[in-house]
Amino acid sequence: MKRIRSKIEKARSQGLFRTLEVQFNRFVPPWIFRYSKGDIYDLSIQKLKSLGAKTRPDDRLIVRCLGPDSDENARTALRKFTWNSVPIKTTCNDIGYAVYDADDPGKLLAGLWAAPESFLENNLGVRFEFTKEQAWLYCAFVHADARGRGVYKRLISFAAADLEGRGFSQLLGIVQPWNRISRMMHEKQSRGIVGRMAAVRIGSLIWVSSIGNVIVDRSLITNPEDRPATVRVGRDCWREVGAKPGNILGDWIGRARVAKPF
Ligand SMILES: CC(C)(COP(=O)(O)OP(=O)(O)OC[C@H]1O[C@@H](n2cnc3c(N)ncnc32)[C@H](O)[C@@H]1OP(=O)(O)O)[C@@H](O)C(=O)NCCC(=O)NCCS
Repeated sequence: MKRIRSKIEKARSQGLFRTLEVQFNRFVPPWIFRYSKGDIYDLSIQKLKSLGAKTRPDDRLIVRCLGPDSDENARTALRKFTWNSVPIKTTCNDIGYAVYDADDPGKLLAGLWAAPESFLENNLGVRFEFTKEQAWLYCAFVHADARGRGVYKRLISFAAADLEGRGFSQLLGIVQPWNRISRMMHEKQSRGIVGRMAAVRIGSLIWVSSIGNVIVDRSLITNPEDRPATVRVGRDCWREVGAKPGNILGDWIGRARVAKPF
């Protein structure tokens, strides 16, 4: 009874659509059907860094960076913990961030990844390509027992400071609008939404679209594994490609609150 009550409580706090999506994706493989839509946030490094200063120190937590040269077993454990299913050969340079329980230092409580250069969204047949100043945050995950007590705020604040130190000046991340908790968190800590993307996959046929300052080079993808579409985010790609925001699917996915080109 207690378990059912806590599951209902969890579903209520994360939102019905998000709960249904998680369950759907668990049972239906991506090569049968996927629908996804997300807002791309331009996260503010300054806001994120100051989050760390605002949160009270917690000596029950150990926050660590697992860069490309870190212990491979620790990186593998973090991949597993964060449900990171991005093809491993495309993530060798990705930087992992982990929170461990100080009382049990092998126990992961939270994780987050940052991709430089590119990020392959395998199931949706798109590959994001970044400038050398951009890093893509993905696979944020906090253990269910550790949620709601500021663990993620600490983790992302640590990651932002570390990434800034590595020369990244723009941190980007995508959040599905129905992921209520994640949206609230990232909206608060961002400079705005750069654009919105949507994708529908039926078998190996994928239809992708974007609005705002996000440019996809092809809308129809027929062989996602071998030839994914390329996505670029930010003013440079806007200028380079000269594309207009929106198309049929773009209009269909709705208007995002798009930030002015920066
Ligand atoms: C999203 C997630 C990472 C947040 O982790 P967390 O450690 O619980 O978050 P924190 O306690 O640090 O709180 C961070 C912010 O999230 C939001 N938040 C957290 N719990 C919330 C809740 N129950 N209701 C509403 N907002 C909530 C708030 O904006 C909060 O900031 P605030 O305290 O200043 O208001 C965690 O819920 C999670 O792992 N969810 C499942 C995976 C997921 O959705 N990942 C994101 C993919 S884009």
